[in-house]
Amino acid sequence: MVLPDKFSFGVMQDNEADLLNDWAIKEGWNPGVSDQLVARIYDPEAFIALRINDHLVGGGSIISYGGLYGFMGLFIMHEDYRGKGLGAKLWHYRRDKLLSRLQPKTAIGMDGVFNMAPFYTRGGFALSHRDLRYEGIAQAGVKSFNVTPLNSINFDVLDAYDQQHFPVPRSDFIKAWINQVGVFGYAVLKKDVLVGYGVARPCHVGYKIGPLFADSADIADNILSSLLSEIKGELVQIDIPEPNVNAIKLAQKYRLVESFGCARMYLGNINAEPLQNIYSVTSYEFG
Ligand SMILES: CC(C)(COP(=O)(O)OP(=O)(O)OC[C@H]1O[C@@H](n2cnc3c(N)ncnc32)[C@H](O)[C@@H]1OP(=O)(O)O)[C@@H](O)C(=O)NCCC(=O)NCCS
Repeated sequence: MVLPDKFSFGVMQDNEADLLNDWAIKEGWNPGVSDQLVARIYDPEAFIALRINDHLVGGGSIISYGGLYGFMGLFIMHEDYRGKGLGAKLWHYRRDKLLSRLQPKTAIGMDGVFNMAPFYTRGGFALSHRDLRYEGIAQAGVKSFNVTPLNSINFDVLDAYDQQHFPVPRSDFIKAWINQVGVFGYAVLKKDVLVGYGVARPCHVGYKIGPLFADSADIADNILSSLLSEIKGELVQIDIPEPNVNAIKLAQKYRLVESFGCARMYLGNINAEPLQNIYSVTSYEFG
C-alpha cells in the first residue's frame, strides 16, 4: 500500500482510540461507554490508525473473532483529511490486514452507512440486509415475571445460546460485553432452557439494547420491557435487522421510531444467522 510521504498505518494507542471514540460521538453514532475497551481487550490489534507523523488522521476497527470471522467498523477520517483518497487507502489496508489475520475462506461483516455501500461493494462486499436503528425515550415497561437477571444465568448456557445467533463463538467477548459497568441484562428460561436474552448498556447518551436474541416475539417483549423499565426516561436505541418484522413491531409498540440505519454487508459467506430471532444486533461496530 503506497502512502504519501510521512503517512503511516499502525495499531492504535490508547489516546488514539479515545480520539476515534470522540470522532464517533461527533458523527452521532453514540458509542457505548465501554464498547471500545471490551473490543480492545478481546483483540488488542483491532484498532488501526492512519497517522501523519505521529498525528492521528483516520482510523477504524477490524476485530477478529478467533480468526474465524472478522468485523470492520468505526471507519472515520478526520474532517480535514477527507476527500483526498486517504480514506480509501485506510479502508483497503484494514480489509487486507483483517483478511491476513483470519483463517482462509472466513468472512468479514460490516454495517456501513448507506451512501458508502457502493464503495464497499467495489471492495468485494455484498449487501445482506439493512440494520435499522429505532430510538426514543424508554417508556415504563412492565417488568415481566418471566425474566431472570442475566447474572444468575450460568455463563456456559448463555454462551451456547449466543453462539446460535452469531456466525462463530465469541465467548470471551460476550462475557466482557454483558459485564460492562452499568449494564442491565435479562434472560428468559422455559423449563430450565434458555430461550432469549438481552442487555442494555450505557452509551454516550442513554442506552443501547444489544444483543437481544429470543426464540419468539413474546419472549423478546418480556426481555425488552424489563430492560426498558430499568432505564425508564432515558434515550434508548435498538438496532434491528429489517427482515425481522416482529422486532420492528415490538420497537413500535414501545414508541421507538426509525432514526438511522446501516447496510449489513459481507465479504465471503457466513454461517446463516437466524434473523427472525435477532431483535437487536450486538452493535454496528462489532457485529
Ligand atoms: C467515509 C470516510 C471515512 C471516507 O474518507 P475519505 O478520506 O473522505 O475517502 P476517500 O476520499 O478516500 O474516498 C473513499 C471512497 O468513498 C467514497 N465516498 C466518500 N465520501 C462519500 C460520500 N459522502 N458519499 C458517497 N461516497 C463517498 C468516494 O467516492 C471514494 O470511492 P472511490 O475510491 O471508489 O472513488 C469519511 O468521509 C468519513 O470519515 N466520513 C464520516 C464517517 C463515516 O461515515 N464513515 C463510514 C462509516 S461506514
